[in-house]
Amino acid sequence: MLNERLTQALNDQFNNELQASHAYTAMAAYFSKRNYHGFANFFLVQSREEHQHAMRFYDYLVTMDEKPALQGLEAPKNDYSSALEVMESSLEQEKSVTANIYDLVSLADELQEHATLSFLDWFIEEQMEEEKMFRDIITRLKGIEEGREYFLKMDDEFAERKLEE
Ligand code: FEO
Repeated sequence: MLNERLTQALNDQFNNELQASHAYTAMAAYFSKRNYHGFANFFLVQSREEHQHAMRFYDYLVTMDEKPALQGLEAPKNDYSSALEVMESSLEQEKSVTANIYDLVSLADELQEHATLSFLDWFIEEQMEEEKMFRDIITRLKGIEEGREYFLKMDDEFAERKLEE
């Protein structure tokens, strides 16, 4: 069993990851409708990754003899003005997740919950990587025009992205 506040915070993050998965599926749909199937694939993979993150919280709660509790999902943003706006929104979303993870680490530290601190280490690394990934894509997109040759090359590149198990 875990401290009640910590259980609540872990459950909140379980649901935040599901919400992130939902938001990335909406981004995929935005690109699918515009026939940029590589970008759509990139976000479908991203959405599945977020679902995997959620299930890490699920599994951890179960391991610690606590119950994962599902909350309602909010409607995600469905419309964007450009690929750049989608990527900038993604980076903001990841920054917000990073802040949530840091809050969780602070709480686990305050409560001296060492197993939880160890569990959260993986997420600190992952957030660093995800923020970098979106920053790099934003830099590339800022230098090009949507729909032109280099943009289509990026679409081909993103078509290759696969889920890492
Ligand atoms: Fe699970 Fe992209 O944070």
